[in-house]
Amino acid sequence: MKLWGGRFSKDPDQMVLEFDECVEIGNRMYEQDILGSIAHATMLGEQGIISKEDADAIVQGLNEILADARDGKITWTIDAEDIHMNVETLLIERIGEAGKRLHTGRSRNDQVALDNHMIVMGACENAGKLLKELVSQLLETASQHLDTAMPGYTHLQHAQPITLAHHLMAYVQMFLRDIAHFGFAYDQADEMPLGSGALAGTTYPLDRTRVQELLSFSRITMNSLDGVSNRDYFIDYLSAASLVMMHLTRFCEELILWCSSEFAFIEMDDAFATGSSIMPQKKNPDVAELIRGKSGRVFGDLLGLLTTMKGLPLSYNKDMQEDKELFYDASDTLEHCLAVFTAMFKKLSYNKETMAKAALDGFTNATDCADYLVKNGIPFRDAHRISGELVAYCIQNKKTLLELSLEEYRQFSPIFDDTIYDAISLATCIGKRNIPGAPAPDAVKASIEEAKRRLDVVTSFFA
Ligand code: ARG
Repeated sequence: MKLWGGRFSKDPDQMVLEFDECVEIGNRMYEQDILGSIAHATMLGEQGIISKEDADAIVQGLNEILADARDGKITWTIDAEDIHMNVETLLIERIGEAGKRLHTGRSRNDQVALDNHMIVMGACENAGKLLKELVSQLLETASQHLDTAMPGYTHLQHAQPITLAHHLMAYVQMFLRDIAHFGFAYDQADEMPLGSGALAGTTYPLDRTRVQELLSFSRITMNSLDGVSNRDYFIDYLSAASLVMMHLTRFCEELILWCSSEFAFIEMDDAFATGSSIMPQKKNPDVAELIRGKSGRVFGDLLGLLTTMKGLPLSYNKDMQEDKELFYDASDTLEHCLAVFTAMFKKLSYNKETMAKAALDGFTNATDCADYLVKNGIPFRDAHRISGELVAYCIQNKKTLLELSLEEYRQFSPIFDDTIYDAISLATCIGKRNIPGAPAPDAVKASIEEAKRRLDVVTSFFA
């Protein structure tokens, strides 16, 4: 008979058992479930709600089940429907009568909520750690490439010269924000829902704060209906994960472009690329492509859970059991993608010469030519037009701005003298952009230091 079978005249149909169960996914949370039960039983004993002896027997039995589960000695069964009832059934089998008192003052609704809160907190910490590794790697690579010039783009058209360090530091900003988002999701999950009961609390004198302390939560939930029906913390996690994936897709897309023969800025390590079954010459950036592709899965998980939660009346509804599959799919994907991306990134090599050559291609110093005129008294709009005319002249005559003679310059404005060449050199274009947040090596060095400080701040949002 089912643990809840008292009012039923028969067992569930086999089809219902198979449809209703969530044992496989629940298997991933036995740790949280058992630790939560140990805290609950401890508190029940302390409060005299059950006897001290029963509480001790329960705690010991649960610890043994936990150890056996960790050793892979336990097979959970779908007959017990979910992980909660698997553990309880096993406990009763092992310690008898006392085991039947564990569920006093508790419902699976607040029990699963507790497990969920703990799972999300753990996953936020994992994501934070993986992101910290990635950021640290980016900072290290950036400090080695403060002077590695490359073109900066808008509309994927050459715009102005920057450095590789500056480009990488843009991703550092994204991932720092991501860590902060996981810090927020962690805080949202960091409240202890046990005591919400099925939906309306309980008449037993539970010491909720004691359970909070035993499980190291920062606070308890303050509404029993919300306590069992809140899944926002999952959605916070999924939205933080989606943002990371979106950032990774942008990065991956750039790496895919950069290793194409058209760009040839980088070379992937052979261990992080794959070949073609037919074309012997091929070396494909599969890892980057697959990460880009897997973003769809994580965005889907976010939208899936939002859709599952949409319109649900208070409080618990079985729909919510879908939360775990979506969450685990996303957290597995995210963690795998972050780990493999960091490893791939670490092994990239950069074709500095090609990048430097490309840095001035496409008249990326035309703004500096206009700025030169402005600094010599010409209004910016006129300077912009004159530089534009110079670019058109260069295109017609197949020259770069640096290749024009002073006579040619003077045909466009008498202001030009031979200081123009220095003013539009690659070194000037990058080195003189030296305000905070700009690409000059000194400015990027400062932004690396600032990012290290910020990394400490955002990682401190976790416990
Ligand atoms: N397996 C359920 C879940 O994951 C646990 C809560 C079940 N509660 C219930 N009243 N059926 O949501």
